[in-house]
Amino acid sequence: MYEPYKIKVVEPLPITTRAQREQALRAAGYNLFGLRAADVTIDLLTDSGTAAMSQDQWAALMRGDESYAGARSWHRFLDVVTETFGFPHVIPAHQGRAAERLLFGALLPTASGHTVPSNAHFDTTKGNLEVLGVSARDLPCAEAADPAKAAPFKGNIDLDALRDLLAGSRPVPLVMLTVTNNAAGGQPVSMANIAATAALAHEAGVPFYLDACRIAENAYFIQQRESGYEHTSIADIVRHMCSHADGITFSAKKDGLANIGGFLATRDEQLAARARQLCVVSEGYPTYGGLAGRDLEAIAVGLREVLDADYLRHRIDSTAFLVAELQARGIPMVLPAGGHAAYIDAAAFLPHLPLLQYPAQALLGEIYLEGGVRGAELGTVTFGLDGTTGHEQPAAWELVRLALPRRVYTRSHLAYVADTIGAVYQRRHGIRGLRITEQPLVMRNFTARFAPATTSVDTAAPKVYQGT
Ligand code: F0G
Repeated sequence: MYEPYKIKVVEPLPITTRAQREQALRAAGYNLFGLRAADVTIDLLTDSGTAAMSQDQWAALMRGDESYAGARSWHRFLDVVTETFGFPHVIPAHQGRAAERLLFGALLPTASGHTVPSNAHFDTTKGNLEVLGVSARDLPCAEAADPAKAAPFKGNIDLDALRDLLAGSRPVPLVMLTVTNNAAGGQPVSMANIAATAALAHEAGVPFYLDACRIAENAYFIQQRESGYEHTSIADIVRHMCSHADGITFSAKKDGLANIGGFLATRDEQLAARARQLCVVSEGYPTYGGLAGRDLEAIAVGLREVLDADYLRHRIDSTAFLVAELQARGIPMVLPAGGHAAYIDAAAFLPHLPLLQYPAQALLGEIYLEGGVRGAELGTVTFGLDGTTGHEQPAAWELVRLALPRRVYTRSHLAYVADTIGAVYQRRHGIRGLRITEQPLVMRNFTARFAPATTSVDTAAPKVYQGT
């Protein structure tokens, strides 16, 4: 589908030489988070906080009421959030991970040694649990194990594994589902799987929360793929998904179509009271939660726009277009195309590299050198280190993620990305692995530094620093 909008403001793209990129990559320690955006031509690092706002969102900024408490903007935000998701208690936060911290801080104050299962925790959820001494367990469904296998709901949780975990001896204080499943391909979770997960959690007397960052995209897939929902509106599907949950954490930087913001929403009045208390201490008074009034306005408008069927059709079609273009060039992709990003199977792209030489990280560097395109690692660097024990092992998936900012790039940009990666694929046999030279124990993907591995057995002996 063509872009269902026209362009009113433009931002020039930085165009660099290969020599400039080589220098920039070395200076960044081969970690693309360390690059200056001015050295990146097409930035697919994340779809988070990178959306282009609409004219209505920009106009809404002018209505921002910056009163410290009880601002009009807060009430507009609250009305939209309550109507969209259906939870009676809403605690704002400056972004998704802050909402996670409020939830876990309010629910698990003394949960050290406990386990929280999910279809796949995102790195911030894993990090927020691990700093409390709680272990984050991923229980993806069997279909998710094979990146190349197309199945409609590869984001589902493995219900048998969840049942076993809930019956086991380790306490489970909370069950979560991430919709869509960002860590494993941006794949959707079916309504049936959400309902069954909720039932298992509730039978065990455990609350069930959605990490709902990309809930509109997940709802679109349900509408397209799950029988019985063909004629249900996206708004109704979203509410139905939430009706199974005790609450959600939300990053408005994704399906809020905003550049900042998030919230925790819940049915649990006592939990909400505790979370509000934590909010006052760290985020701000609970009618702004670290956000300006104008941010609350932008989110309120964004939440309405993101449920638009044409917007979502174009969004999901764009991702499918990029995946198809890359596949046409022989590149091994996670299939089917997910919601917010195209995922390259880096282990299949670079089979000559051991996983502890971080093929996805190495591939990212090469893609950047080739054409100034920045993607993100979702593999062993991001998920391979257990922050509670310091033990490292290859992650279940070794992926390069090309995340599409919302309403930002056109199809010709995406065709350029496909050509760039196609050129890297032609010279894949000469690509070398990396070793880590320094890293923290938690969320190392953001700050670890790398150097080229010198031999095929040269793996990490990094300097570890604390302070996370
Ligand atoms: N949950 C999921 C599934 C996410 O993808 C993210 C962020 C968060 C929680 C945290 O939200 O950034 O607002 O604090 N994902 C971004 C990404 C960073 O690039 O996928 P946040």
